[in-house]
Amino acid sequence: MQRLGIDIGGSGIKGAPVDVTRGTLVEERWRIPTPQPAAPAAVAEAVTELVGHFGWEGPFGCTFPGAVKGGVALTAAHLDPAWVGLDAGAVLGRATGLPVKVMNDADAAGLAEMCFGAGRGRAGVVLVITLGTGIGSALFVDGHLVPNTELGHLEVDGQDAETFAADSVREAEGLSWKKWGRRLDHYLRRVEDLVWPDLIILGGGVSKKSDRFLAHLETRAEVVPAGLLNNAGIVGAAMAGGVR
Ligand code: BGC
Repeated sequence: MQRLGIDIGGSGIKGAPVDVTRGTLVEERWRIPTPQPAAPAAVAEAVTELVGHFGWEGPFGCTFPGAVKGGVALTAAHLDPAWVGLDAGAVLGRATGLPVKVMNDADAAGLAEMCFGAGRGRAGVVLVITLGTGIGSALFVDGHLVPNTELGHLEVDGQDAETFAADSVREAEGLSWKKWGRRLDHYLRRVEDLVWPDLIILGGGVSKKSDRFLAHLETRAEVVPAGLLNNAGIVGAAMAGGVR
């Protein structure tokens, strides 16, 4: 069974039709840079362009980089603040003319990892952390998602964690893998003190380069890179797209 998954990020909006029984992309993913400012109408237009690119006509799933409840965006750290309080599902549904289910991007990536990736078959407490423009988190207890955990905004040493440990900060500050790896380790250890995961899965684009920084992590829990690398958000969005 195929469904379209779209992943809205702070720097890019990516999508592809997904085989939701296997967790694989059935066409090459397509990416549009996130419009700046990322106001609702501009983002909805980009999503509509992606839907058109694939000639998609059925229901689809879409991620949003903020807390989402019942389709309503409750935060929008990396998009225009006009999103906050808006029914993102209704905005994207009106723009595309298609039924859409919207969920938090890290939660979607986490669902995909638990079903098809590094978390497959893992019981206990599994924490998926996505490292990109910001830091996203998805917490699973025996395979069940605790939605909207927002651990990327945990305050560490008086700072919002994603402002010192996100992958975008590594790039912006030109940090070495070792220096950034140590920052990430400091952050993950604070998180570990609070939620005591059995397994930590690191996702986001940087998960492709995990060999450069995993050696700098000294967490209690086992840490592994995401199995679906940076496609987890798209796959998770597509999986969510079928849930009404
Ligand atoms: C947002 C999260 C999101 C993460 C990754 C954070 O700034 O608050 O909801 O999952 O960025 O995009």
